[in-house]
Amino acid sequence: METRDSNWWKESVVYQIYPRSFQDSNGDGVGDLRGIINRLGYLKDLGINVIWLCPVYDSPNDDNGYDIRDFYKIQDEFGSMEDMLELITQAEAYGIRMIMDLVANHTSDEHAWFMESRSSKESPKRDWYIWKPGNEGQEPTNWESNFGGSAWEYDEISQEYYLHCFSKKQPDLNWENPEVRQSIFSMMDWWIDRGIAGFRIDAITFIKKNQQFPHLKSEDDRRYVPLAEACLNQSGILDFLHEMKQEVLEPRNVMTVAEAPGVPIEQIHEYVDEQNGVFNMIFQFDHVDLDAKPMAKGIYHPWKLTEFKHALSKWQIETANKGWMALFMENHDHVRSVSKFGNDGIYHKESAKMLAAYYFLMRGTPFIYQGQEIGMTNYFMASIEEYRDIESLNYHRNETALGRPEADILNYLAIRSRDQGRTPMQWSSEPMAGFTDGEPWIHVNPNYSSINVEEELQDGNSILHFYRELIKLRRDNKALIYGDYHEIYVDSNELGGYVRTYGKECWTVICNFTDQTIPLTDPLEGYVVLSNINNHDDGLLKPYEALICKGEKNADAAAI
Ligand code: GLC
Ligand code: CA
Repeated sequence: METRDSNWWKESVVYQIYPRSFQDSNGDGVGDLRGIINRLGYLKDLGINVIWLCPVYDSPNDDNGYDIRDFYKIQDEFGSMEDMLELITQAEAYGIRMIMDLVANHTSDEHAWFMESRSSKESPKRDWYIWKPGNEGQEPTNWESNFGGSAWEYDEISQEYYLHCFSKKQPDLNWENPEVRQSIFSMMDWWIDRGIAGFRIDAITFIKKNQQFPHLKSEDDRRYVPLAEACLNQSGILDFLHEMKQEVLEPRNVMTVAEAPGVPIEQIHEYVDEQNGVFNMIFQFDHVDLDAKPMAKGIYHPWKLTEFKHALSKWQIETANKGWMALFMENHDHVRSVSKFGNDGIYHKESAKMLAAYYFLMRGTPFIYQGQEIGMTNYFMASIEEYRDIESLNYHRNETALGRPEADILNYLAIRSRDQGRTPMQWSSEPMAGFTDGEPWIHVNPNYSSINVEEELQDGNSILHFYRELIKLRRDNKALIYGDYHEIYVDSNELGGYVRTYGKECWTVICNFTDQTIPLTDPLEGYVVLSNINNHDDGLLKPYEALICKGEKNADAAAI
């Protein structure tokens, strides 16, 4: 095992698995642990060395496993604890470490803790969750849940309301209670003892609530106001997180990546500074949320390339000397990146590779979401019947009630729904994309006949091969891991890129984000090591072309 300051998590490439949609092994239409075990060879060949496994704990699946009923049990649909332990051991044999999702902001309402808590006001676990009496026959506050509607649910049994930042089947734990914190910490220890290498920490910036429980001011006449102002990254949260660090993270020396929306850039060091921070790295969402106006769900917000680049670059700059970022373009809560930031039509291949080159070699640990490596795309679901995601379904219901036309709602879901990232992994051109022999739990994207792993394994020019090359390039060149980052083409709405310098080495990544050919005014620094097209012409960039060049640092390298 590594020493405490070992950097293995910086040198790793992480692959995110959303188990429901990855690989079904028994024909019930739901991906499972056995399916993942069967695909470890594929992941090893891809070159990744860490898997982030989304929740596989026992759950009634209101939010696909993010509503945990029992932290110490595997959900039947996914397999058994033996399967889980086998997955950890087998992955290790392939040189792959496992990190699990840690969902600690809330549990399922079917969790034994909550059942006890709701049983009566006198229950010893009453204070494990957040209970309040009504306010003149109304909810205690006007807070809106992240999944729409009131964040409070009235409970007939004990005649009070409980708080849920997400669905009403995800009651929030009361982190003010030290017993709650200890129970979470010992659960973390239990899983580390089972051989996992760390955690992706879910929704962690929600654990602290403003204890005044204020009424929030509304900008419009909607009844509920997004609860972020009272529940997201509230002052005092770092005390809880430092306790977690002291009790578990530091002594057990595990890898951590926290889902941390709401952390302002000025505060990043408090979260990820290597000495004084709490986590190894965080996910920030500025780039993937560019098209949604903050705090106003359902309103499309047009964006420019300069904004997209800045949304990534500013974190690079802020963490240049201290701290580290998690680099990603997609996950199970977001749409497919080639559809959103690239061109999923005629330049599908080029633009998927270009996006890969652009984010992958920044300073941080790259994450690949299942299917991203073959360029999986969004697809238009023509009816709400095709959707499964609770957030999307709630959204549809609430907007319909507000009188919004069906077509508008479906158009919005097509570009924002979490289900866009949850269609089954496309393994082959066989029926159901080789994902299942049965009826999949959610529609397979019909383009699986041309976009699939089998096809891309055979095509040396595929997106999949390009990812393999990028992974190898990063692994073999410390400059691409540790080098300084310097952005180029900052003001361009067509080109993006950066220089990584390390000792004498100087690497340049240049990307064309448009479907036009663009002349390059400056000569390239050094020679082209990797490109996403076969016929690079000097002096110009073809549509969606990306170039990775290696050169030697010289006096004017920084002046490109
Ligand atoms: C995180 C997860 C998301 C889930 C939510 C509530 O944002 O990524 O999928 O719905 O937390 O647990
Ligand atoms: Ca199955």
